[in-house]
Amino acid sequence: MPTLIIDGKEINVEPGATIMEAAKLLGIPIPHFCYHPRLSISGNCRMCLVEVEKMPKPVVSCAMPVTDGMVVKTDSEMVQTARSGVLEFLLINHPLDCPVCDQGGECSLQDLAMKYGRDRSRYHETKRELKNPNLGHLIETEMNRCIHCTRCIRFSAEIAGVEEMGAVFRGDHMRVGTYVEKTLSSELSGNLAQLCPVGALNLKPFHFQARGWELKSTFGVCGHCPVGCRTRTDQMDNQVKRVMAVPCLPINISWICDKGRFAYDGLGEERLEAPMIRVGNGEGLSKTSWQNALNRAAEILKGVKPEEVAGLATDVGQGAEELFAFQDLMRNGIGTQHLDHRLRQRDFSSDDTILTRADLLMNTPLAELEQADAIILVGLDSRYEVPLLNLRVRKAIVAGAKVFAVHPRTLESNLPGLQGVVLSPGSEAGFLADVQQGIKNGSAQGEAGAIAQALKAAKKPAIILGEYAVNHPEAETLRRRTVAILNELGALGSEWNGFNRIPARSNAAALDLGVVPHRGPGYRKLDSQGYNARKILAAAAAGEIKVLFVLGGDPGLDAVDTQLAKQALEKAQVIYLGAFDTEAAQNAEVVLAGLAPGERDATLTNCEGRVQRSPRAIMGPIESKEDWRILRALSDRFAAPLGYNTIEALRKAMAEADHRYSLDTLGKDEMAPACDHSPVTTGLEPADGKRKVSGDGMVLVFEPSFYQDDNVSRRSKVMGLLAGGSRIRISPEDAQTKKIQDGQKVRLIQGEESIELEALIDGDVPSGVLFGSYGQADALVQGLSSGGEGLPSVSLVGL
Ligand code: SF4
Ligand code: SF4
Ligand code: FES
Repeated sequence: MPTLIIDGKEINVEPGATIMEAAKLLGIPIPHFCYHPRLSISGNCRMCLVEVEKMPKPVVSCAMPVTDGMVVKTDSEMVQTARSGVLEFLLINHPLDCPVCDQGGECSLQDLAMKYGRDRSRYHETKRELKNPNLGHLIETEMNRCIHCTRCIRFSAEIAGVEEMGAVFRGDHMRVGTYVEKTLSSELSGNLAQLCPVGALNLKPFHFQARGWELKSTFGVCGHCPVGCRTRTDQMDNQVKRVMAVPCLPINISWICDKGRFAYDGLGEERLEAPMIRVGNGEGLSKTSWQNALNRAAEILKGVKPEEVAGLATDVGQGAEELFAFQDLMRNGIGTQHLDHRLRQRDFSSDDTILTRADLLMNTPLAELEQADAIILVGLDSRYEVPLLNLRVRKAIVAGAKVFAVHPRTLESNLPGLQGVVLSPGSEAGFLADVQQGIKNGSAQGEAGAIAQALKAAKKPAIILGEYAVNHPEAETLRRRTVAILNELGALGSEWNGFNRIPARSNAAALDLGVVPHRGPGYRKLDSQGYNARKILAAAAAGEIKVLFVLGGDPGLDAVDTQLAKQALEKAQVIYLGAFDTEAAQNAEVVLAGLAPGERDATLTNCEGRVQRSPRAIMGPIESKEDWRILRALSDRFAAPLGYNTIEALRKAMAEADHRYSLDTLGKDEMAPACDHSPVTTGLEPADGKRKVSGDGMVLVFEPSFYQDDNVSRRSKVMGLLAGGSRIRISPEDAQTKKIQDGQKVRLIQGEESIELEALIDGDVPSGVLFGSYGQADALVQGLSSGGEGLPSVSLVGL
């Protein structure tokens, strides 16, 4: 290990480390623009020059590897002069418009110019003038400020995997942009603005909203998808002004996706701001006091038998606190077992088996996924379901891993060399059985054979089941086959466990803490099972369940069968606890106004099972209350009130129920561990032969809408601009046969039901299958899934 001296301090570093990295270890800051620890070294800004003994000229510290015996000075006269010179050159063309620049006050160039720059310019010629390209709805450009550091270019190519940014010409003619002017297509594009060291690339929704020093920051966790990225929420006057990525190597490295960054404008829309009760004679909901609302809710709940009450929660936008309190109230206060959060799930056959966390969540930590040498994505559109997990798969593939995507259509992927296996819906279980046979005896041919070979040759194979697989009519069979394949490979051990399932849309605490009908908190076995989500809706629609207690979410948009959900919401008496005005709230007898994400302290569990706290960043509406407090207050009206009056006591109860929630024992800056490292249940026989498709028409597959998939993002205007409305993806062959043009209105028909929406002709879609997005209120494709537990089949006609 080379030893060197920097500013008189000695240090040993790994061979190949640069002077910049060595100085960082010593806590000696070296000014820089182009260097970024997560990007390749470009060494082009020259701001990081240092003096190295025996070298005649200053040295670029971010690119110079250390050698044994090196003596470095980071603040000598030579260095000061060099830095002053670099800044003078950079400022030749920089517009010096700091007073109107979004980056003002938090700009590296501004800070370093103050420290090392001259007090006036010697440049009197005309400055360059560049056109500002339109990069879309998220990034505001002011390219005269660009200092050609190339961070944005390297990020696009190396991290986002879409080579959209680049530079043309040289010297002071250099232009950074998208070559031909176009809107950015990356789901990670907001990171460009955070990376840009000056105000050339800015966050468009934040443009002219506030100055950096006016903002109050709170560090928290994003709850828009199951990755759980670390974020910083900046607010002014109790309004979120921007959300920034916070580096966290085990989870999100240094980045967040555009949904996590920009969906916050949905927070203030369509809010429930006070408790309400339904008043007589069709007058609708009317504001009332908390006492009245809680009394009325208790009266409704006590007016029926406990088994006539059911609870439906959502795992998106809810913290573990309210999920835990909700199941506690339902089970122990009200006394019902009917409770679930899995509104999109079709196959509940696994509920009869004792499964634990290792069977249901990820077992390969995100950071280790990049070490896998073969990865099979089964029903997982990783780029748009879990963007920051997708970056790990990308890292693995760049490092040489073989990656296959088994999916009902070709994925719009940014994974170079991804091998897509497009299977017709319903044939997946058979395909995985072939892969298993291929591993066992080499009998598999074609794509199954190729996957079997890749898995067999791998030292660290991993399989990830995503949204399509988890909500498939044969989900449990797919899960068991996956376990069997990995077991065959010996890849379920404590050294390397490649079984991964991403069950949650956001917060896996709903599984851990027992918001399911067959298991209590901490995966505790129950004596008897209640109804699952589908049965609850069916029983409510049939009048058997008389009271539906809905926690957050929007069953009318989220359920896999929205017709059934609507019937249930209309037939049953509904008590709605949530922050947004949803269909369930409009149908409710009592509305209990809760708080939205960011307005309360919350605990979130990500897809790898890591439990994290996310503190309150802003205040909610003045009359709204924390959801768990509402549940606690309501429980006072029952024989067994919930046993916690403070959030600390509630968290203690959570930790007692499931030890993974005892975060208070962690040291400062210590993270809860990822994954459980407990054995996955093996030896369960896959049960084939379920009805996979309901009917003989075209198969309709629902997919999550990346930009609009929860209460906040659906209400976000920025997300609305990106989502582009509800469309149905049709293969070019089917479009030709049915004489349908791109953008044309089409009708999907199933029995008595039909919906109209716009056609999107997509070469990634196979013939005979249609793809629509969940939860698009204007054309709700799940309205056509009343054909039972199989994937719906529909007729398609052009209009
Ligand atoms: Fe660097 Fe910003 Fe210019 Fe990109 S736009 S090269 S990040 S200064
Ligand atoms: Fe949020 Fe998921 Fe995006 Fe991370 S990847 S910022 S958790 S939506
Ligand atoms: Fe070293 Fe830019 S930071 S050359």
